[in-house]
Amino acid sequence: MLVGVPREIFPGERRVALVPAVIPNLKKAGLDVILEAGAGADAGYPDAEYTAKGATLAPDRAEVFAKADVVLQVLCYGSNDETGQADLPLLRRGQVLIGFLRPLGDVHTVQEIAAAGVTSFSVELMPRTTRAQSMDALSSMGTICGYKAVLLAADTLPRLFPMLTTAAGTITPARVLVMGVGVAGLQAIATARRLGALVSAYDLRPAVKEQVQSLGGRFVELAIEAKDAQDAGGYAKAQDESFYQRQRELLGQVVAQQDVVITAAVIPGKRSPILVTKEMVAAMAPGSVIVDLAAERGGNCELTRMEEKVVEHGVTILGSINLASAVPYHASQMYAKNLTNFLLNMVKDGQLNLNMEDEIVRSTLVTRDGEIVNPRIREFFSLPALVTQ
Ligand SMILES: NC(=O)c1ccc[n+]([C@@H]2O[C@H](COP(=O)([O-])OP(=O)(O)OC[C@H]3O[C@@H](n4cnc5c(N)ncnc54)[C@H](O)[C@@H]3O)[C@@H](O)[C@H]2O)c1
Repeated sequence: MLVGVPREIFPGERRVALVPAVIPNLKKAGLDVILEAGAGADAGYPDAEYTAKGATLAPDRAEVFAKADVVLQVLCYGSNDETGQADLPLLRRGQVLIGFLRPLGDVHTVQEIAAAGVTSFSVELMPRTTRAQSMDALSSMGTICGYKAVLLAADTLPRLFPMLTTAAGTITPARVLVMGVGVAGLQAIATARRLGALVSAYDLRPAVKEQVQSLGGRFVELAIEAKDAQDAGGYAKAQDESFYQRQRELLGQVVAQQDVVITAAVIPGKRSPILVTKEMVAAMAPGSVIVDLAAERGGNCELTRMEEKVVEHGVTILGSINLASAVPYHASQMYAKNLTNFLLNMVKDGQLNLNMEDEIVRSTLVTRDGEIVNPRIREFFSLPALVTQ
């Protein structure tokens, strides 16, 4: 079976779906790799490193799609809404496609992928189970985004992060608030602590309190309680507007005291909740920085504009998206490991064996034989349930 890795074509994307180090694992399981020439270059993996591990090179993209049984990408059509459509005519019936597909984004896009006849898997739909942990690309990318968000904030803030006692006086440490303590938020806390900041964090799931404290952060407790803060899959659930309103009132005082706010509160498939209003921004000291990791889904700050740097009342709001691509070497390494574990879970005797009893396969499978077969996606888009599953 041949696994194909095309170059990423989303503008500015620097990651690659497989790195040379995982090729021997795939080969051991009977899988060969064909790579579009130059696919790993921007991530720091030259072609020669892939061929040294036994991959073959294809001079152009079309050849990868034409030959591969399984195509691995970082941003497939769906998550690449700018240039991804160009891949549709290259896909072949029965071919397997694995990557970020943004399956709860636009139903027409998912339908187009289904119509191409591919068996597609979306890594965003990975269940939150212990067995799936090593395949969880969202967590890998979240880790990188959380880290990078703090570096961006430190680079933009006109203050130092650590406390310093110098001959020229004492420098007080920066105060950093992390809102939304998922994987990205936890890494943001850890990174800000390493830089010496005073870190506090808030999440509507009280269960994260201990995790925040174990990283040396202070957990902000508000006098409101969320109903069913997370779903069975471990993802955050949306709350009603009265909850969000009360939450914003209470958070206002906390936000006003911060030099840096990093927001990472995301609800899958939904617009991000507004946690920082424009009034809250106005109450922050000039020079403060907000990095909004939820920018792609509308942002947790009312003033966030995707991919833009907004300055209001002297406060800088960074709506960066795709931050994982800014650390392409390790983002690709982690992603490649996740994909390899995911793929090998479905391979038996060198062949793909889709075991629908396996929750990991069932949850991530999006399209097959021309149909959107994933019940969660069908329900999300109010499509009628399929008779045969
Ligand atoms: N395989 C596994 O077991 C596995 C894998 C990944 C994550 N997890 C766990 O799942 C949890 C969620 O992680 P994630 O990175 O996917 O999170 P996420 O990106 O889905 O959401 C980010 C965080 O924002 C919070 N949030 C949402 N709305 C909020 C609001 N209005 N106010 C404050 N906070 C809000 C959520 O509770 C969540 O903690 C974590 O506990 C994580 O450790 C488990």
